[in-house]
Amino acid sequence: MGVFSLFSLCNAFACALLSLWLFNPSALAKWLRGLDVDHAKKRIARIKDVKALAERHEVAAVLAEMIHKDGAGSWPPRANHHHPTWPVALQQYKEVYLELASLLPQATASLDDQVNIARIAEFRFRFRELLHERVNLNDVQQLLKAADAGRWDIFPRDMYNAFYCCIASSRHAYRWATIPVVQVAQLETEVKLPVELTEPWAYLQRHFGCVSESGNNTSNLVLNFDTEGRHIYKINTGMSPRILSGEEAFARIFHEVEVLGVPVYHDMVLAIIAFARNEKAACARHVASITSQLRLVLGSYFDNMHDQQIPLSVWLSHVQGFYGWGIGHYDEASDDWVKFDGLSGNQVLLFQALDAFLGIEQYLSPRDQERNVPARQRALCKALARHSFRKMLSETPKDENEARIVNDFNEIIKRLRTFRYAHRSRAKRYLSQPAPERLPMTAGKSLLAPSIDQSLQFLDEFMVKRISQTV
Ligand code: HEM
Repeated sequence: MGVFSLFSLCNAFACALLSLWLFNPSALAKWLRGLDVDHAKKRIARIKDVKALAERHEVAAVLAEMIHKDGAGSWPPRANHHHPTWPVALQQYKEVYLELASLLPQATASLDDQVNIARIAEFRFRFRELLHERVNLNDVQQLLKAADAGRWDIFPRDMYNAFYCCIASSRHAYRWATIPVVQVAQLETEVKLPVELTEPWAYLQRHFGCVSESGNNTSNLVLNFDTEGRHIYKINTGMSPRILSGEEAFARIFHEVEVLGVPVYHDMVLAIIAFARNEKAACARHVASITSQLRLVLGSYFDNMHDQQIPLSVWLSHVQGFYGWGIGHYDEASDDWVKFDGLSGNQVLLFQALDAFLGIEQYLSPRDQERNVPARQRALCKALARHSFRKMLSETPKDENEARIVNDFNEIIKRLRTFRYAHRSRAKRYLSQPAPERLPMTAGKSLLAPSIDQSLQFLDEFMVKRISQTV
């Protein structure tokens, strides 16, 4: 087909869509939903295939286990947020969060420490009182013990996932007690959380294999969507639509990256299996499929992380701070102070898996992985790294298929570098916004240097180093 006929075909298609939108918007919505349904069906088929491959290869087995145990049989992990279906003991937690949610944010934070101290104390007092009045901790413990004993008939995994998100969100709400996050809260070194939020957390973190006192990218962002894609635990209830939609658009990127990540994980497994069996043509097809899927995955970042979707003026004060942590406790065993950082994009599974598949060393230190990345996600990355075959390919390929594999690996690296370059400049723009109520901080690295310029310089070094490692 010539370029012009292709062009007119595209034009005709665009015109058809436009007229559908103008004259029959509900038909267009139906058509778009159809695409979603189609994508969901393909994702289910991919997940089914991973399960079927579990017997054939270690990487498939590890991925299948992650999907089964952490994902409640699906990926991104399924979360049953419909709390009327939860046992009464658990329902109370969500009710309390929803009841307090509108007291958390304010349009503009006070710059007066005394005002902020009083506001924080009041919020924490109400939170403690409500939890104490409503939660029957003994019943909650029985449920968590049942899950520990593998009684998923009593505490189904999708409910367990939603409860993980509920407790993680509640802990962050208690920790900061007001949004925008303010300096007096940033300078706290220890916050005594109510027992209703510490006891379940110990069970949940043991189950997911994370040791941090803070939530992580999975608990607070990926799991914060129900099976219909609705955003659940909001932190800016009652604020302007601009703030609310910015908050949601930010969270949605992390969920969407995992939705679009499923075909990538599946193709990684298939490429590894094919390479191990010396089936180079099949291997080349799967690596090429990863290259093309990557456009969609990174598109979710590129299309959303900008001022129109997540306003620059909103993100730093109204979104980011809540995901920080920056407090800890004295540890008798080591006679040392242990401090935990909060969430960061650096905990996103997709990027860690890509690095492992490509044979690039992990970005996070082993300590930070153990603190913030669920154990079964870590296991997947370790398995992908063990079976990474890129280093076995020579730059002067032996045949056409090997040449295609090498080319596609180079293309993946190129796209990842493009993401990292773009991320370096976009992140800087978001972090440079004025926020007079607080000190320089990222959620993932806690308090930074006193001046914003020094802080940005410090962060830039991580990003520049990562770009240079992406080869
Ligand atoms: C306004 C929002 C964001 C800001 C300001 C930001 C900022 C940063 C900063 C400063 C770093 C380097 C320091 C560190 O590791 O903590 C980083 C790392 C990282 N971020 Fe973000 N980030 C944002 C959103 C995102 C999103 C939406 C994603 C992907 C879905 C993401 C993915 C990553 C990854 C994967 C890393 C690790 C380095 C790498 O693999 O390139 N970030 N981010």
